[in-house]
Amino acid sequence: MSELAWWQRGVIYQIYPRSFQDSNGDGIGDLAGMSSRLPYLAELGVDAVWVSPIYPSPMADFGYDVADYCNIDPMFGTLADFKQFADRAHGLGMKVLLDFVPNHSSDRHPWFEESRSSRDNPKRDWYLWRDPAPGGGPPNNWQSRMGGSAWEWDERTGQYYYHAFLREQPDLNWRNPQVRRAMDDVLRFWLDHGVDGFRVDVLWLLIKDAQFRDNPPNPAYEPGQPDHHRQLHTYTEDQPEVHDIVRSMRATLAEYGQRVLIGEIYLPVPQLIRYYGANGDGADMPFNFQLLNATWHAGEIARMIRDYDTALPEHAWPNWVLGNHDNPRVASRVGLAQARVAAVLLLTLRGTPTLYYGDEIGMTDGVIPPDQVQDPAEIRQPGIGQGRDPERTPMQWDTSLPNAGFTTGRSWLPVASETSVHIQNGDPSSMLSLYRRLLKLRRNNAALVQGAIEHVAAYGDVLTYERHHRGQRLFIALNMGAADAEVESREGVVLLSTFAGRDGQPLRQGANRLAAGEALIASV
Ligand code: GLC
Repeated sequence: MSELAWWQRGVIYQIYPRSFQDSNGDGIGDLAGMSSRLPYLAELGVDAVWVSPIYPSPMADFGYDVADYCNIDPMFGTLADFKQFADRAHGLGMKVLLDFVPNHSSDRHPWFEESRSSRDNPKRDWYLWRDPAPGGGPPNNWQSRMGGSAWEWDERTGQYYYHAFLREQPDLNWRNPQVRRAMDDVLRFWLDHGVDGFRVDVLWLLIKDAQFRDNPPNPAYEPGQPDHHRQLHTYTEDQPEVHDIVRSMRATLAEYGQRVLIGEIYLPVPQLIRYYGANGDGADMPFNFQLLNATWHAGEIARMIRDYDTALPEHAWPNWVLGNHDNPRVASRVGLAQARVAAVLLLTLRGTPTLYYGDEIGMTDGVIPPDQVQDPAEIRQPGIGQGRDPERTPMQWDTSLPNAGFTTGRSWLPVASETSVHIQNGDPSSMLSLYRRLLKLRRNNAALVQGAIEHVAAYGDVLTYERHHRGQRLFIALNMGAADAEVESREGVVLLSTFAGRDGQPLRQGANRLAAGEALIASV
């Protein structure tokens, strides 16, 4: 497997730092806590950890509002703690990826404080400032993704500034070469600190229309949907010039050897794959989020896998994501039984899988009482399903009450459910054991890591496909339905089933029975 880069062979695990492990009793996770749990991740069998933002921040958007790109928020620890965390991860054979948030800073970042101080401040043009529209009011109709106009009036200097998210998150002006240089320095700062790559926040939003034209209305908008769906984002997203920025980020990383550039990009596949660039000069992996809101039906998933595989350019390495801190958890989307099937799917598809913390124990979305809501997305547009607290609840380590071993203090969000690492640890039929077995199998079978994916098909509720590599042929069958089903197969041996006790059993030539919610991997 040596010709592949580590990020092609490996499995990425996302940590949401506020919720992983608290070490000082303040109810919020921190670096020392994360470090103490690294052996757990090594044992789980993942290869890289991506850590959501840990930079100094007023936490208006829980760290996605950065006030200093080159430091650590005291809530999480210090630069020395980060170094310890990275060293420990590296010592255990895991890579460390940081979240890079270049689209916007915090309104408390010194750059913005300078920029807003006067119209002729040298950093004025580092952000997007505009005069009011001729008749007064915001310069154009652009909407914030958190609801309402994306323009905030600044009394002192008599202009509006643009914020794609909260008003506390002003967008930087990526057409300004000084901004580009400053952000390049940020990348270098962390690369020099031994970071192995970045997940780039909202990469497809970095550049906005130079003429600030109004976005057209969205003909498919339905009342009750978030404000932001009222428009097509023709002039605020996926502008052609963004690819030039991606190329320059990629070039900086290339100076440091094998480092990975991952882009957070919510776009349909034809636009998404452009972010790979030409001949590998773009992002290594534009995140493929299709599974996050896929209809959980074998035929749908089969079509999605085939279309993605066909669309990918020759040089492009695929990837799949099952969960993250912005979307409902897989166990809540498809149910606990199918979450096991989803685990097999994620870890047997062609391409790098990204796991979201807690999914390996089947954590479900938490229920957040109204007076405990934290997410600004929910606070600004209550009740329309934008709130992300449910998928950000504390990692459930053990049976201790009320915080499952996450903190000895008062947790910033309530614990979601009763299950825990401790409960599942020694149980061969648990979700955790399934993930461990899957990760091990993947590691030991080149066909799962670099084999071609072939014969992707759906028969009723059963999805099947094969992975081939140098004479090894693996057959994967997933029963995505709630009833037993039959699946046609060659003769072979079951290497792993979601049902404990089937491993090692023969697979007959012809029809084989798959229990409801069973998924298996067989050598055929
Ligand atoms: C990304 C992050 C999300 C954040 C937003 C603004 O989508 O994943 O959590 O709110 O960017 O930074």
